[in-house]
Amino acid sequence: MVATKKDILSLLDFSREEITSVLESASDLKKNRLKSDPKAFKDRTGVMIFEKPSLRTRITFETAINELGGHPINLSGETIGMGKRESVEDVARNLERWVHLIIARTFSHRTVELLARSSRIPVINALTDKFHPCQALAFALTLYENIGESRNVKVVFVGDSNNVCNSIMGLCAKVGYDFTVVCPPSYAPKDDIMKPCLEAAAETGSRIVVTHDLLGAIKDATALYTDVWTSMGQEGETEKRKRDFTGYQLNEKVLSLAPSGVLVSHCLPAHRGEEITSEVLDSEHSIAFDEAENRLHVQKAIILHLFS
Ligand code: CP
Ligand code: NVA
Repeated sequence: MVATKKDILSLLDFSREEITSVLESASDLKKNRLKSDPKAFKDRTGVMIFEKPSLRTRITFETAINELGGHPINLSGETIGMGKRESVEDVARNLERWVHLIIARTFSHRTVELLARSSRIPVINALTDKFHPCQALAFALTLYENIGESRNVKVVFVGDSNNVCNSIMGLCAKVGYDFTVVCPPSYAPKDDIMKPCLEAAAETGSRIVVTHDLLGAIKDATALYTDVWTSMGQEGETEKRKRDFTGYQLNEKVLSLAPSGVLVSHCLPAHRGEEITSEVLDSEHSIAFDEAENRLHVQKAIILHLFS
C-alpha cells in the first residue's frame, strides 16, 4: 500500500520537478518495454470507472496495469450506478476496502474530487469535463521526443477551453512553455482555470495568451494542437458549435502559414473535416498517433510515481 495517498486530478497540483520526473520515467519505460518493466503494481488491483466512451485511455491503462504486474477491472458508470444507485462517496468507501487504485473518467470534475476525498487510495483522473492530465503528459513526452530540451517553445491550441486545452495550458504554465489558445469569443478559459495557470506561469516565465486571431497566433508556433469542437457531454450544442467554430480548422492553408517545421497534434478521436483535415492529421507534421502511443508509457510512469 502507498505510504502517502496522492491523487492525479490536475497537473496544476504537480510541481515542475514531478512532471519532469514522470516524463523521464515514461521515456525509460518506453525504451525498455516488456524487457524490464518494474512490477510495482504486482498483485494489486486497479479499478477503472468510465462514465463516457473511451478507446485510448481504457486500453492504455489496462495494458499499463497488466505490464506492471497488476490486475485491472473495468466498470462502466452505469454498472455501479455511481451517484444514482449509491453516492459517489460510498462507492469510494467500498472500493478502498478491496482495490489499490481508482482510475475514473467522469462527466463532472467534482465526481473525481469526491472519489479522491472519500477514499484512502489514489485516484487518477482519466478525463473529466475540466481536465485530462494524462493526455497533457503524453503530449509533453511526444513534444520532448521531437524538440528535446529546447526552452523556446510556443504551443498553440485551436479550439475551446475544454479538458484537453485546460490541461495543456496547465502543463505549459508549469514547465515554462508559452501557450496560446485561439478560440471564438465566448469559448475562452474561465477565471477558475486561468488564474492558477497564470500563477504557475509567473513562476516559470511561461506566457499565456488568449486570442481569436488564428493566423496571428500560429506564425511562430512550435506546435499546433486541436480537439473536437464538441466534447463528450455537450452533444446538445453540436450544431451551434459547428457554426461558431467555422474558420478555426487546422487545414493545409493554415499549416502553410505556420513555421515549416511546426508539429501538429490532436488527442483523438478526431472529427476529420471539422477541427482538422485528414491532409493535416496524416501529414509529416502530425505527432498525434505517437502521442496516443505515449499514453501507455506516461500512464505506467504515473502508476510508478504513485506506487514506488
Ligand atoms: N484521447 C483519449 O482520451 O481518447 P479516448 O477518449 O479514446 O480514451
Ligand atoms: N475534449 C474531448 C476529449 C476526448 C479525449 C472530450 O471530452 O470529448
